[in-house]
Amino acid sequence: MLKISELTCEYEKNPLAVASARPRFGWAIESGSVDVAQASYRLQVALDESFASPLLDTGDVASGISQFVRYSGKSLKPRTRYHARVRITDTDGDRSDWSAVCRFETSFLNEKWTAPFIATPLSLKLPKGGASYLRSEFVIGTDIESARAYVTALGLYELWINGTRVGDALLTPGWTSYSKRLAYQTYDIGSLLKPGKNAIGAVLGEGWYAGDLTWLKRRNFYGPRTALSASVRIRSAQGRERIINTDETWQSGGGPVLYSQIYHGETFDARLDDAAWCRTGFRASGWANAEAVAADASVVVPQDGPPVLRQEILPVREVIVTPKGEKVLDFGQLMSGWVAFKARGRAGDKVVLKHAEVLDADGNFYTANMRGAKNLIDYTLRGGAEESFEPHFTFQGFRYVMVEQYPGEVKGEDFSGVVLHSQMEKTLDFTCSNEMLNKLQHNIEWGWKGNAVDIPTDCPQRDERLGWTGDAQVFIGTAAYLYGVAPFFRKWLRDLKADQIADGGVPFVIPDILTPIAHLEEKLKESHSSTGWGDAAVVCPWMAYARYGDAEILAEQYASMKAWVEYIRRRARDGKIWDNGFHFGDWVALDAKEGSYFGATPNDLTATAYYAYSTRLLALSAEVLGKKKEAAAYRKLHREIVAAFRSEFFTPSGRLAARTQTSYILALVLGLVSDKNRSRTVADFVSLLDESGGHMTTGFLGTPWICRALGENGRIDYAYSLLLKEDYPSWLYQVTRGATTVWEHLDGLKPDGTMWSPDMNSFNHYAYGAVGEWMYKNIGGLSVDETGLTGEAGFKSVTFRPQPGGGITSSRIAYRSAYGTHAIDWKLDDGKFFATIDVPPNTTATVILPGKARDVTGSPRIAFSDGTDGATANIGSGTYRMECRI
Ligand code: BGC
Repeated sequence: MLKISELTCEYEKNPLAVASARPRFGWAIESGSVDVAQASYRLQVALDESFASPLLDTGDVASGISQFVRYSGKSLKPRTRYHARVRITDTDGDRSDWSAVCRFETSFLNEKWTAPFIATPLSLKLPKGGASYLRSEFVIGTDIESARAYVTALGLYELWINGTRVGDALLTPGWTSYSKRLAYQTYDIGSLLKPGKNAIGAVLGEGWYAGDLTWLKRRNFYGPRTALSASVRIRSAQGRERIINTDETWQSGGGPVLYSQIYHGETFDARLDDAAWCRTGFRASGWANAEAVAADASVVVPQDGPPVLRQEILPVREVIVTPKGEKVLDFGQLMSGWVAFKARGRAGDKVVLKHAEVLDADGNFYTANMRGAKNLIDYTLRGGAEESFEPHFTFQGFRYVMVEQYPGEVKGEDFSGVVLHSQMEKTLDFTCSNEMLNKLQHNIEWGWKGNAVDIPTDCPQRDERLGWTGDAQVFIGTAAYLYGVAPFFRKWLRDLKADQIADGGVPFVIPDILTPIAHLEEKLKESHSSTGWGDAAVVCPWMAYARYGDAEILAEQYASMKAWVEYIRRRARDGKIWDNGFHFGDWVALDAKEGSYFGATPNDLTATAYYAYSTRLLALSAEVLGKKKEAAAYRKLHREIVAAFRSEFFTPSGRLAARTQTSYILALVLGLVSDKNRSRTVADFVSLLDESGGHMTTGFLGTPWICRALGENGRIDYAYSLLLKEDYPSWLYQVTRGATTVWEHLDGLKPDGTMWSPDMNSFNHYAYGAVGEWMYKNIGGLSVDETGLTGEAGFKSVTFRPQPGGGITSSRIAYRSAYGTHAIDWKLDDGKFFATIDVPPNTTATVILPGKARDVTGSPRIAFSDGTDGATANIGSGTYRMECRI
């Protein structure tokens, strides 16, 4: 039966704050038949759920498009609930029923944000680095049709109503480039209100806004003072609206959160915790009226990224006593989040916890690599009944927790690891017959979870946790397999665009907190525009388009993408060879000089290669956006850069002049090698690899693509052998050392048990996990066109092409796109290749099997022909079983 299984509005099921007056809809189709394709759709949008008089009724629109279908009716009103439904007809003439209704509510749209920002008066002298509390009461009648709270803060806030915490989002309003974009959250508070008197309150922490940030020991990056701005809107059945805004009648005071900082943890004195503060009738001594503070309300925008939520709760695996006698909880998994605990004791007793990623070679608690981040939880008991606690405006990257103080016996069951990250749908399942690779996959996935806490961070534990552009750029291709990351990156890219330097330069970190302080810091000479880092401005929007088909992200970012390419063009010699400026280059490569972080690949080669890459993606983007002239101009520029690269970096006889692994990798993957020089380049690359025993010596820019460079050039044998190495340096070396995430350095923990300098040795850095993408495409065998050339982005059409090797005998990959599940399950047995393939309705697939067309059988029967890469067929939706002699 033909059915709409899901209708979404702007990526969400029933969104409460749609930012666009012309939102886009997408739907997934379910059917028991094969070859199902949508022939037409009919979309309705209405104020009332009966759809009696719709605002939009498209009628039957002949179109196969089922994602990003834009609302084209009368302008939507701000803060209004609408309903949408869709039905479709397929190419066989079958017609679906109406879908379930998608309820969506608009945000403020073009209305101004008017709620004042209020702060605790400075005269109260609350503890430095702690939280302040703000509260008010209001009276309402019985006629409540809907009640919403729209809330933001300079700092981080928690909202409370009548003694209940509102919503489950943490670390709100998240981290954006606050002076340019400050997000508000929308809460449905109807069920928390009661007729008569109600209490509303908020706890405010310093967070990223005013708290300690960076290794430079600075604070107040965006301003010195936290403030809250909230607007409660209560609508009666007659449509009357009551507005309750923050103002100077609100009361403010201190509370139990005496100190809470992103890096340093929290000090909480439960003796000061009076639950009545956010209930009606609270009479606090020492509280005072809040003060209004000046803030730019024009930068307030609806939240555009997913909220950070508690995602998983992990139990303690083991309570260890270390050789030094430390009592340590082992959660068995390196994660981002915090510890929730229970305790019972006397008033004034303490629970003191420290956090670590690893134990040292002797098995003792090791925190040196946290650098300046204290990650300390210091809780004072109220005394009496059992107490439970979770911190508020901080998070830790940890696997081990040292219990320095605790009243009574330390029992694992009284503690749990609360995993936090941005809400994203898990989209990938990948396994194969090699258990070590499955563990690597686990680590790659946890590397992403640990570093997707509101922004894509480098690491979650030390005094950084910043949105390093290079890391995000190399990993986005893998992230976009693992999870639905389009809204997450859309938000971050908006901040990238907001923080881009006027001349097109791209900050090292987004939100950019380095450029504004660069002139004050002796050690911070540069803060923006390194090759491979700045390219995030181009690579990330392009990947969002290629994987999700969202051309709006491209359109929004196009000016920023272009500005970056033009920035380089102005600096490059003759506009082609970028041979100046500061670059991280092939960061932390193993071919760096002893003690250096800078790999041996020459910066001009890396910078010119990436310049070519970004220019090509910009040309493709221009094409997608219908900017034909610009597309042609950037294609031409790309050809010129490639030609210049070839004459600069290849000798006349065809030898690549810079003999490093990453030089070969970039040249091969980015199409910089001429056909004439290809076989020699590949041979030279392979012989260089042999010199290091087939091990990689690459860094941030080479490592992600090393298997690809080999696999695409006839040496998939080398790619597999690299991937499957278990001795140092390799991906699986980390697995043999018990890693549960991916490390910053291939040699974070060296074979002799010593560690990299604690200066910079994170055990949870996703960048090297970027090899995941190669595994999914080549072992799993599922990919989409990322060249933009087929005009079918975002899993509308996929390729299944497993390339077995390395002794792997089976694999299963399943990816849940907006259309449904695309999956291939294959195994090798007795000289035959068996595959089961799922193609969701309204999508197509190209299947390439290792073998000859005449040797393929299966059901339903499909016609294979011999292509250059194997037996090839094009199929529509359905489930297929096939086998092939090889
Ligand atoms: C970060 C990286 C980042 C790098 C820039 C480090 O401190 O952790 O991952 O990209 O600096 O070189």
